[in-house]
Amino acid sequence: MTTTDRDETRSRDGLASQAVITAEIERIREEDARSVVPRTQPRIDFAPYRSSILRHPTKDLHQADPETIELASPVFGHQDVKPLEADLTIQQNGEPIGERIRISGRVLDGDGRPVRRQLVEIWQANAAGRYVHKRDQHPAPIDPNFTGAGRALTDDEGTYSFLTIKPGPYPWRNHRNAWRPAHVHFSIFGTEFTQRMITQMYFPGDPLFPLDPIYQSITDQHARDRLVAQYDHDSSEHEWLLGYRWDIVLTGSHATWTERDGGTDHV
Ligand SMILES: [Fe+2]
Repeated sequence: MTTTDRDETRSRDGLASQAVITAEIERIREEDARSVVPRTQPRIDFAPYRSSILRHPTKDLHQADPETIELASPVFGHQDVKPLEADLTIQQNGEPIGERIRISGRVLDGDGRPVRRQLVEIWQANAAGRYVHKRDQHPAPIDPNFTGAGRALTDDEGTYSFLTIKPGPYPWRNHRNAWRPAHVHFSIFGTEFTQRMITQMYFPGDPLFPLDPIYQSITDQHARDRLVAQYDHDSSEHEWLLGYRWDIVLTGSHATWTERDGGTDHV
């Protein structure tokens, strides 16, 4: 935290300082710590994440007939997903810049059983923290060899694997000098469109964790920890890449946090 952050509660551009955001995060965490039931899912009315206040649901969700929805919703066939789509480093004409990594893990149900043939989609910023997205205009370079999107199907063991580049942290306008910890967005499609779940995976030891209101919108430490991949030396490859392991648990007390009720960040 800088002296400027500490001294000012609101900067000239009207954004709150990190000190204000951090104090709000701490106050809500203390409030939730008194709760008997740990909050393992994000609070949708989490004020430190400013834009979520404007767009989270305030009324009960409408119940809809899932069969009717599926008549007009996207569908995919397993044959549509090509194995090479899981390699984000070969989508263009050259090698993307950055730290080559593999992210692999298993999709499991609450009883530890593999969830097979699941469509897993990821999207992420490049090594400089820039998305290929018209709303991302911050002054970091676009990598012409990296689009940052990939997909894969889980195998019989529920295992998925992506070859990609480690994303960089990026600034966003939630508050003054706000930076998102490096992360990869994940979507698990389920067996029907109505089951789709979205979450984010983080990298171990990121110094931005305590400052980030999206990560901190889950006030239970153990639940937050489950969003952080582990470095996996056995899946690193000699002179080629670093391996990270991240399992996704869909249900039960160890379920991975998802964005089913709240919003996500700007892209
Ligand atoms: Fe993001």
